[in-house]
Amino acid sequence: MQGVTVIDHPLVQHKLTIMRNKETSTASFRRLLREISTLLCYEVTRSLDLTTMRIDTPLATIDSPTLEGKKLVFASILRAGNGLLEGMLDLVPAARVAHIGIYRDHETLQPVEYYFKAPENLADRLVIVVDPMLATANSAIAAIEKLKQRGARNIRFLCLLAAPEGIERFRAAHPDVEVFTASIDSHLNEKGYIVPGLGDAGDRMYGTK
Ligand code: URA
Repeated sequence: MQGVTVIDHPLVQHKLTIMRNKETSTASFRRLLREISTLLCYEVTRSLDLTTMRIDTPLATIDSPTLEGKKLVFASILRAGNGLLEGMLDLVPAARVAHIGIYRDHETLQPVEYYFKAPENLADRLVIVVDPMLATANSAIAAIEKLKQRGARNIRFLCLLAAPEGIERFRAAHPDVEVFTASIDSHLNEKGYIVPGLGDAGDRMYGTK
């Protein structure tokens, strides 16, 4: 699918299966989400540009690869985005972090924004927006609109599961934003849940209902 990368690494798929299992405990789900997010982060950053810096090893002076440009920004859509954020920060500890508070009204399924805090200079940075579930895509579309209003121009979206309907709507709204996901599931049900999915990611992470 155009503009969508499915991360089919065997470890990702294995961990995802355990996460989908409704018998998996809250503690295991949270740990797996953190583990899987480091693997997803590895893939979403695979194409980052490199430059070189001159360093002295104990034996020689070399021009050695280093990431080019300003620090990355990870933008977490609260609350479930934070489950992906932790593992990503394990891998890229110097990244800056944006938090975007958006919840989905359970009646209308429309996004309601209640919080936005992002670093300066978004225009000069790659922004990786994270939310485990791309379902209706309403929250993701709204979050990225807000980031663009604040100047972001180079954006990627990372999730764990996506519904085909969500991908279609997302790509129509933001054709410039590439989507990275571990799976494209079958469909959305009438309540806006991804099927087969894994249930409500926030509830499964935090043991709420
Ligand atoms: N959000 C979730 O947490 N799960 C879904 O299936 C859809 C949206």
